[in-house]
Amino acid sequence: MRIPQEKFDEIAQANDIVDVIASYTQVKKRGKSFLALCPFHPDKNPSLNISQQKQVYHCFSCGASGNVFTFIQEYEKIPFMEAAEKLAMRAGIELNLRKSAPDTSNEISRLFEINKATARFYYNNLMNLSGYEKDFVWDYIKTRDLKIDTLKKFGIGYALKEWDSLLSYFSDEKTFSLDDVEKSGLILKSDKKANYYDRFRGRLIFPIFSENDKVVGFGARKLYEDDPGGKYINSPETRIYSKSRILYGLNFSKEYIRSSDFVILVEGYLDVMTLVQAGINNVVASSGTALTTEQVQLISRYTKNVVVIYDADLAGIKAAKRSIELILEAGLDLKVVTLPEGEDPDSIVRTKGKAEFEKHLNTRKSFIEFLYTFYETEKNINTVEDKTEFVEEIMDYISKMTNKIMISFYIKDISKRFNIYESILIDYLKKARSKYIKEKYPKSSVVLPVRKSEEKKALSEKPSSLELELLEVFIHGDGAALDFLSENIDVRFIKNKAVLDTVQIFLEEYHTEGKIVAYKAIDKSEDINVQALIAELSIPKHEISKSSKLDKNSILVKAEKRSTNYLRIANDIINKFQVNLLEEDVRKLIAEGKDLNKILELRREIDKIKRSNGR
Ligand code: UTP
Ligand code: MN
Repeated sequence: MRIPQEKFDEIAQANDIVDVIASYTQVKKRGKSFLALCPFHPDKNPSLNISQQKQVYHCFSCGASGNVFTFIQEYEKIPFMEAAEKLAMRAGIELNLRKSAPDTSNEISRLFEINKATARFYYNNLMNLSGYEKDFVWDYIKTRDLKIDTLKKFGIGYALKEWDSLLSYFSDEKTFSLDDVEKSGLILKSDKKANYYDRFRGRLIFPIFSENDKVVGFGARKLYEDDPGGKYINSPETRIYSKSRILYGLNFSKEYIRSSDFVILVEGYLDVMTLVQAGINNVVASSGTALTTEQVQLISRYTKNVVVIYDADLAGIKAAKRSIELILEAGLDLKVVTLPEGEDPDSIVRTKGKAEFEKHLNTRKSFIEFLYTFYETEKNINTVEDKTEFVEEIMDYISKMTNKIMISFYIKDISKRFNIYESILIDYLKKARSKYIKEKYPKSSVVLPVRKSEEKKALSEKPSSLELELLEVFIHGDGAALDFLSENIDVRFIKNKAVLDTVQIFLEEYHTEGKIVAYKAIDKSEDINVQALIAELSIPKHEISKSSKLDKNSILVKAEKRSTNYLRIANDIINKFQVNLLEEDVRKLIAEGKDLNKILELRREIDKIKRSNGR
């Protein structure tokens, strides 16, 4: 089917290139143009230039360039028509390509289609209810103060109070096998008989969306007294739904999170919906479970500032401990809001209004401050023992942080507040940090395994640029990047002796001290090659410092450093090393002239790593 040129123009006009790119990578305004970290190559300093006026992008570093369509094509690795479709959907433009016949070509696409059809089915159920059920359900919706626009936006639906309503829909419809529908978790097989039945019955249905707007599962809220199930029943994990990788509401809120540069993290589906309905859009929910590393990573793609809303009781904090640690470890700034007992964001907005919620939001405290007040009110910290325990507990949290500037502010603060020498706190911090690192990597050996002597001959004379990049990340990178490197580095990656020795020293430093101080590392080697290497790389190579000769302690240089995503660079570097290693193996196998299957397998592996890069 041909699509008229006007349609493409309409799509392009409705999708501002800055907004679109901003939903994939952080974009900053610089004068008239916009700069972003280029997603098409490992980018340290933002080198992707975007012109809003011309609606094009160009990377000064790798040469990638194009318009909003090519960006989506390249980023998502999809053909032009699919990119156009995606952008049309993003802007709410009807394309009417094919009368959207569902894609049943593979199991994954069938799962997506089944979830999509189910969301429609439940939504239509809700809209077409009749009789007693209609009154009952809509009364409930009224008590929750959900407006029709909100129901539409979040695709809220209703599962009839029957055992087989969804089952009959799919049986009659015949597009999907019941076997596939079962894989989506929406119908179940009873143990005794081989009969299927609906998972959700008599419940309000909340579709759970992926970051790019696809329905991947459902949450279903209990409505009836006689329902023996829990308050919520959720879709099980499937090939398209992994709880730990989803943040409820992110598909709606991501652009708001980026523009406000903070995210409000709540617990429940309804908290998200009510806040969004009230016009507070930068919100996501962890859906009742402790936050995961993957979810924190997701957040950190949009902002570094997290505001968590908690019930102010001890149990709440204990439960939140892991989430808090993950947020701190990721180098994010954590603020905490405590609500009056028994309240959640939804209840506050619903009963007291948006302004009242915002008042609470404005009382947000840094996590450490929050601990101060918490302990002051809940516990008596009068005795020396109590105070010691309290300070140690705070320091243990701080030892998980990676932002050194933030750490030093907190240390100053604690030193003043409790009248303790900073040096003592720093000592404690060092020990806590190395304990934490050891706990985190119990099995990783501190020192790289010794090379066999015959392999030594193969060492190269000059460090490769990749090896130098690796050392740079060791020297300038943050804790997250260093943790990643120490976990993933492999002795076979490194071909240069001085680099190998330097890495050994760095790893040892990191595991014992929790950080790498270049000038100290220099002292640890007798080899002048190693010393020269470390010294040379320790000099910052950042734009600002190069052009204006700013002192390397200047706030500007530090700030610039801080905004570099070292974890991502570390990841890219490790991937490249892996590719190199595999390619080496391929060359060997080819030289030996055998094992074609093995070669193909390695090549596929290489392609896979390359494809995952820059994503
Ligand atoms: P809450 O109990 O705080 O529910 O659980 P809520 O969202 O405030 O719902 P209302 O206001 O009582 O209707 C927070 C989140 O934990 C998950 C859900 O994602 C819920 O939104 N949860 C809770 C479950 O998955 N199962 C449960 O049984 C309870
Ligand atoms: Mn609630």
